[in-house]
Amino acid sequence: MSYMSDTVIRVENVSKKYVLGHQQEGRLNYKSLRESMGNGVKSLGKKLLKPSGKGMIKTAQEEFWALKDVSFEIKQGDRVGIIGRNGAGKSTLLKILSRITEPTSGSIRIKGRVASLLEVGTGFHPELTGRENIFLNGAILGMSKVDITRKFDEMVAFAEVEKFLDTPVKRYSSGMYVRLAFAVAAHLEPEILIVDEVLAVGDAQFQKKCLGKMEDVGKQGRTVLFVSHQMSAVESLCTRGILLESGNICLDGTSEQAVGVYLEKAYSIGQIMPLFQRTDRSGSGKVRASSFRILNDEGVPQSSLKSGENYYFEIGYSNKMTSTIKNVVVSLDILDEKGVRVLLLRTNFSQNNVTLNPDQGYIYCGIKNLPLANGSYRFSIFLSQADAEVLDYIEDAASIAVDGGDFFGTGSSGLPSHCKILAKANWSTELFELCP
Ligand SMILES: Nc1ncnc2c1ncn2[C@@H]1O[C@H](COP(=O)(O)OP(=O)(O)OP(=O)(O)O)[C@@H](O)[C@H]1O
Ligand SMILES: [Mg+2]
Repeated sequence: MSYMSDTVIRVENVSKKYVLGHQQEGRLNYKSLRESMGNGVKSLGKKLLKPSGKGMIKTAQEEFWALKDVSFEIKQGDRVGIIGRNGAGKSTLLKILSRITEPTSGSIRIKGRVASLLEVGTGFHPELTGRENIFLNGAILGMSKVDITRKFDEMVAFAEVEKFLDTPVKRYSSGMYVRLAFAVAAHLEPEILIVDEVLAVGDAQFQKKCLGKMEDVGKQGRTVLFVSHQMSAVESLCTRGILLESGNICLDGTSEQAVGVYLEKAYSIGQIMPLFQRTDRSGSGKVRASSFRILNDEGVPQSSLKSGENYYFEIGYSNKMTSTIKNVVVSLDILDEKGVRVLLLRTNFSQNNVTLNPDQGYIYCGIKNLPLANGSYRFSIFLSQADAEVLDYIEDAASIAVDGGDFFGTGSSGLPSHCKILAKANWSTELFELCP
């Protein structure tokens, strides 16, 4: 095969077949990075979503194509975001590119040293210490001892594991493990860096650090492949976006294009499927949010909202218990189209926790002067008992647009859409009294 000089990855007609039942055991033992992080809510939701979940497997022979005839090329210095819903095949693709698993058919060609951060377990030897693993990984990447030593302190500082350098990594907490794994992958000067959702596991500060580091790696002209569900991170980091859908490439373009199409599709899922039919949720299931509507102050359901108006958010629930459930915390997360949380309405902020009837009922949340600017928003619903047991959690329960309105009461149109939250303010060149 002849390469254009700057093509570093070429994927040609790659398909990956899993035989369910037979390989199912592997899947059960297989711990994704997120799952091992004890990121309960998220991973539970994901497990329910996986089409390969236990309940779906009928025979031992069922075939499943995780990737179907996927082809693309990546040029040196591309920072590629790979996005798609749960089970779309993103991790499978990264594993094939990292040569952790073989494609069933098709071929891949890679030019350059690859460092990848996939699931816990890959790359690190549990019995070896942090220090030994750093050198082992460097050696695997073809680096000399001198080069590794040169990078060593930087890596250890990044991972914040100084005290545990001589401890076998099997004794590390999940957080330490991931921090070190990321530090090693990002600092060992690979030509190609492949990262699967490391952002889902860390705290906000670690996430920021990782994004910054990946950006540095990109700026040095290295190639980055990055899987994430965090669209704002994909947009800010990546120059290119590949959207996978059920094992197919649905779009290969700029990261903005891929994110745009992905979000459009995510919206329509919330609209097409009623809440009570959704299985992509987590929590004990004692209570399920079964419907969600937004009503105006006369009780009429709305299909879009206006800034500054008064609304009721209505959550229908079914209670599987035969008794009432007291002290239920209800929380409505309102996220913008990038998945950034802009408002959080929660019963225990205003000491308004609710009691749920046996069988079914409704929960209402009233809000005056809706402070949202023009744009599309999505709602997540979270129900828990006294902040202890998660009863139900469903992301993207609904999506709705805010379109116009007269928040400022001035009659001026031209509501902003480049901000999310509105607040009234007065202006003067002299200090004045703030009236309530
Ligand atoms: N070892 C395996 N055996 C059987 N099926 C598998 C195996 N690994 C993955 N799958 C299935 O292949 C499909 C693609 O999985 P993959 O992990 O690549 O998805 P993903 O896009 O990374 O999803 P997520 O966003 O949840 O991480 C899923 O339906 C998954 O259940
Ligand atoms: Mg994955």
